[in-house]
Amino acid sequence: MSEDNETGTSADLTELAKRRGFFTQSAGAYGGVSGFYTFGPQGASLKDNIENSWRDRFTLQEGNMEIDAPTVMPEPVFEASGHLDGFDDMLVECPSCGESHRADHIVEDNTEYEEAEGLGPDRVGQIIEEYELVCPTCGTGLGGRAIEDFSLMFETNIGPGSSSSGYLRPETAQGIFVEFPQLKEYARNRLPFGVTQIGRAYRNEISPRKSLLRVREFTQAELELFVDPEDGDGPDLDSVADVVAPFYGVEQQEAEDGEPLEITVGEAHERGLVADPWIAYYLGAGAEWYRSIGVDMDRFRFRQHLSGERAHYAADCWDAEADVSGPGVEPDWIELAGFAYRSDYDLSKHDEYSDEDYTVFRQYDEPVTVERPTVDPDMSALGPAFGGAAGDVADALAELAAEDPEAFREARSASDRSSGDGEKPRDGDAGEDGSVVVDVDGESYEVPVEQTGFAVEEVTESGEHIVPHVVEPSLGIDRALYTVLDHCYREDEVDGEERTFLELPAEVAPTTVGVFPLMDRDGLSERAQEVAADLREQGLSVAYDDSGAIGRRYRRQDEVGTPFCVTVDYATIGEAEDDSEGEPSEAQSASEPSSGEQPREGTVTVRERDTTAQKRIATEDLPETLVALRDGDAAFSEM
Ligand code: ATP
Ligand code: GLY
Repeated sequence: MSEDNETGTSADLTELAKRRGFFTQSAGAYGGVSGFYTFGPQGASLKDNIENSWRDRFTLQEGNMEIDAPTVMPEPVFEASGHLDGFDDMLVECPSCGESHRADHIVEDNTEYEEAEGLGPDRVGQIIEEYELVCPTCGTGLGGRAIEDFSLMFETNIGPGSSSSGYLRPETAQGIFVEFPQLKEYARNRLPFGVTQIGRAYRNEISPRKSLLRVREFTQAELELFVDPEDGDGPDLDSVADVVAPFYGVEQQEAEDGEPLEITVGEAHERGLVADPWIAYYLGAGAEWYRSIGVDMDRFRFRQHLSGERAHYAADCWDAEADVSGPGVEPDWIELAGFAYRSDYDLSKHDEYSDEDYTVFRQYDEPVTVERPTVDPDMSALGPAFGGAAGDVADALAELAAEDPEAFREARSASDRSSGDGEKPRDGDAGEDGSVVVDVDGESYEVPVEQTGFAVEEVTESGEHIVPHVVEPSLGIDRALYTVLDHCYREDEVDGEERTFLELPAEVAPTTVGVFPLMDRDGLSERAQEVAADLREQGLSVAYDDSGAIGRRYRRQDEVGTPFCVTVDYATIGEAEDDSEGEPSEAQSASEPSSGEQPREGTVTVRERDTTAQKRIATEDLPETLVALRDGDAAFSEM
């Protein structure tokens, strides 16, 4: 769905987002560019709070390290990572209006196929033809159109000239992987250890859509956990084992009428549905975290990737998905995060393509004695025999000894036999008359085993070098933010008037408290300013508002999700109330709380957003009380 044809809640949300300063398409003055958004004051603050909440849960509480790498990286990084070869989407171009579309999305939006990406371009092309699917922009049939691979990588030149090519990173993860040789030192070479990063990523999406949900520049929060696949400490699975979520595994997706299983994380792991314990752990921690920032768990699920759908690096992957459709319509599931088992793919590639060492030393419990085959070629014989190739032949002999010492042993037996009973040596790497055969640049060289200096030494080893495996929770902040707004969007009626409000958890709400003077006179504004300053000093995010009727001020804060509003009135300054001006009833009750309490000297009214209930609190207790309410250490209803 493009931004232009949004309907229902999504259109209301986009309108609210623009009007109240959450987000808007950027560079609107110049017509705007699809897929780029600017966060306004409320949005930037909400985004910051979501990021900080993620940082607290997945960096600080897990004892991980956070880094901040550049967004532009040189071409060789993405040659090694595989992005230059395989980071493509399926593009189909309309023959009539020339608009480009994601071919797999056209299939998903108009047929029963839910995950068309995994079907591949040929099958997607066939389905477009079979179902006579049309261009979403102009309605022209797309049957028979070529489905092309379109690279999502944004290319740029680094420095003057065009000799050094770079790319905007399509995932923050590569910034962590390339620095692994240094990071492992910080972790004192001990697995497992985790590194996180929150930062921008860029993808040249074919058709950005649904405002923040598919954009070309977005923020990822990624955790790369480096583990020894055979050893090392596992996760504290018990701490999340009781978290219940819908698990939509491959089996359930492939079964006719298959439904997600509503089970605990512990059970999902025990049943083998989520095989890797770390992935299971992060699914549990992820579900709890999404709940904490305001995602509705009745519109949330975990879905396993089908085999054709997995990224080039992933051995197994589960997505956290949220339904962002409006009420009463078919669910519209979008991916919030991917939890992938990336195996040793990334580190092995960087180990192979760069000059650095991406391994970690695995210490054995006990030293072990092993046989180590070696060669010491007789160069005075190899030189005359092979000329310029002698050095390469010597290297090839060393490789063969490490990989296949048996070839040397057999050559030696053949040599012994031919000098003894005259039996013929067998074919293979062991050549005739006791020689070994190696290949150099496609040519075979036969070397008498005596000239190889082959020997087997016994050595005691305390460990070995391994390439760690990677478990990765990769999360999109923009999608989380949009989903939170969508899931927290509410409409109700207060005092006979329609009200729109965002039921955001206090922890992430852009503003924690609105402070209002009941009137802009008699010293009330000055006192309210002092109250606001005291609250800010406690680290609370405060909006001060003295314009218009109190009821209007409440509505403005409701719309941006401010959980509490404080009204400073005559009781606050120790004077009798001046009730000469009529206010709407919510405003009246700003000095006569809904609890029926009488205004007490030195108190303010605190009003809760969701219930609109009000209580009077001593001004001196206000900062502490609001901090406790924001942090979930106190409940308004119990105050
Ligand atoms: P999709 O299939 O929806 O394109 P993806 O599988 O390409 O998503 P990943 O490569 O797993 O996504 O990226 C990790 C996370 O980054 C996603 O879960 C999502 O939250 C976020 N993300 C990816 N692409 C975008 C985008 N174009 N706009 C906003 N967020 C994105
Ligand atoms: N790091 C996972 C992804 O962005 O694809």
